[in-house]
Amino acid sequence: GGHQPAAAPGTDFDPVTPNTRDSVVIPEGYEQQVVIRWGDPVLPGAPEFDFDNQSARAQQLQFGYNNDFAGLVPLDGAGIHNLLVVNHEYTTESHMFRDYDPDNPTAEQVRTAWAAHGQSILLVRRDPARGRLDVLPSHYSRRITLDTEFAVQGPAAGSELLRTSADPRGRSVRGTLNNCAGGVTPWGTILSGEENFHQYFAHADRVEDPTTRRRMERYGINTGASTRKWERFDDRWDASREPNETNRFGWVVEIDPNDPHSTPVKHTALGRFKHEGATVRTTEDGRVAVYMGDDERFEYIYKFVSSGRMKPGRSAHARRHNKALLDEGTLYVARFTGDSPASEIDGSGRLPSDGEFDGSGQWLPLATGDTSHVPGFTAEEVYVFTRLAADRAGATKMDRPEDVEPNPVNGRVYCALTNNSNRGAAEHAPVDEANPRVGNRHGHVLEITERDGDPTSTEMSWGLLLVCGDPQRADTYFGGFDKDRVSPISCPDNVAFDRHGNLWIATDGNELGSNDGLFAVPVEGPERGHVKQFLTVPKGAETCGPVVTDELVTVCVQHPGENGSGPENPGSHWPDGGDSQPRPALVAVWRDLGHRVGEIGRR
Ligand code: FEO
Ligand code: CA
Ligand code: CA
Ligand code: CA
Repeated sequence: GGHQPAAAPGTDFDPVTPNTRDSVVIPEGYEQQVVIRWGDPVLPGAPEFDFDNQSARAQQLQFGYNNDFAGLVPLDGAGIHNLLVVNHEYTTESHMFRDYDPDNPTAEQVRTAWAAHGQSILLVRRDPARGRLDVLPSHYSRRITLDTEFAVQGPAAGSELLRTSADPRGRSVRGTLNNCAGGVTPWGTILSGEENFHQYFAHADRVEDPTTRRRMERYGINTGASTRKWERFDDRWDASREPNETNRFGWVVEIDPNDPHSTPVKHTALGRFKHEGATVRTTEDGRVAVYMGDDERFEYIYKFVSSGRMKPGRSAHARRHNKALLDEGTLYVARFTGDSPASEIDGSGRLPSDGEFDGSGQWLPLATGDTSHVPGFTAEEVYVFTRLAADRAGATKMDRPEDVEPNPVNGRVYCALTNNSNRGAAEHAPVDEANPRVGNRHGHVLEITERDGDPTSTEMSWGLLLVCGDPQRADTYFGGFDKDRVSPISCPDNVAFDRHGNLWIATDGNELGSNDGLFAVPVEGPERGHVKQFLTVPKGAETCGPVVTDELVTVCVQHPGENGSGPENPGSHWPDGGDSQPRPALVAVWRDLGHRVGEIGRR
């Protein structure tokens, strides 16, 4: 008999108690710092942030709004110097401007919002003596906005479906938007998902062609005016004037932070939907699999497998070769089949008699290169109207797939299904074993095991690792772990893994009444399912883009103060305090005295 460890390696910290404080709350013995916040300088010449004098010109040079994903690309073996890439998912105009009239935005406000979208790229240095992560001025610094040129690549590049008056060749798009989650590739670039692009377009109801209108409807393009009214300032946001512009968003984009002059890419082979993110796993034979979620109620989980093989390393040559890998391969969508009798999946969330929500599954091929596998769809139509092709293929409608990410230690794939209040309602899809709760308010986490651990397999098994919510309730499940010892968790969104293979989960929209946060949970051994809360974020904020290394944890604090209504009622004063306006920001957390994250007393 051995000695029982106090916690699984990497999760040895005192959990944070649920709270509603207007600060980032971290475990005893840890330190924290705001690394960069909305309006801080990114490029030379950027003015200091001034809430009352914000301009498009300033915003183009400053850190954008509503940071979601953050990726660190280490430039040395010790992780001292890193490239930092941050997504700026969307703008909240009522919190960004003191005098914002939603019915009559000004041209300057609209242009400022265009510049507040996209990405920030920076060089950061981790101070090994003090733990801090500091932004350094460097030639890597870059802002990508709605005015940055993107190259369209892959099998739908040049398609008639992508041609507009501004780009009659269908190969070059101005900008990226609603970039939610993402992933760092093995070759040191960033994949980023264009998520809720539909909300930026207007007047789908004025489109005359019924096929075009039906396709726009499947993607939720606005009928009538858009919330932000951008269509008044540029015709491309008016779906009736430039219908194909809507088809040029909703992609996975790839950004190379190593080369500040590189043209970022939209990868059409990865399909078009409301991409949460995209994460890569390499196969034994050197091919790559990319896992992706479509974040909307009753949407699907996807996988892409490349035809070509990866060149190792991060040289310019390897990066150029590997970027093209994502342009040729097979796009799949997932179907999940439960192994318990349907009568035992009654919508209550209680476990079926075999003790698990689990079963088998298939990856259904949609298209390979220029070949469609879906009857009635050309390959181009599969890539551009992927949701419609997946409907036809018979994929499983999920409870809002957010991050879908392979665990580099055990090879299994973890999917955050954030919630779905409509599950099981009369006019919607009924419960199934992979989505077993009626009106799923708290979400769940699905674990996929590819057959033989092979990411190119079309067969898999799956089970629910977590069914989230109040652990005292019977409709929750924590991997079989003692529910009296876990932290409550609700609305899982982004996931990450530490060196030990523990799953880290960031939440968005906690339905249990306290602030969102970051949680660690072992997925192997006796501690499997032992969810522990590592931090909470300020009022109204969501926790995004976690990165967990031995030395530090970073999280993006997105939309602090979204519980408030704007400058007169800001909802939060984080991070600047006093009576300041809230500012989305990236936060770093580390153990004092040079100890490792999650390892008490160990150097
Ligand atoms: Fe932008 Fe799916 O969260
Ligand atoms: Ca079962
Ligand atoms: Ca998300
Ligand atoms: Ca979310």
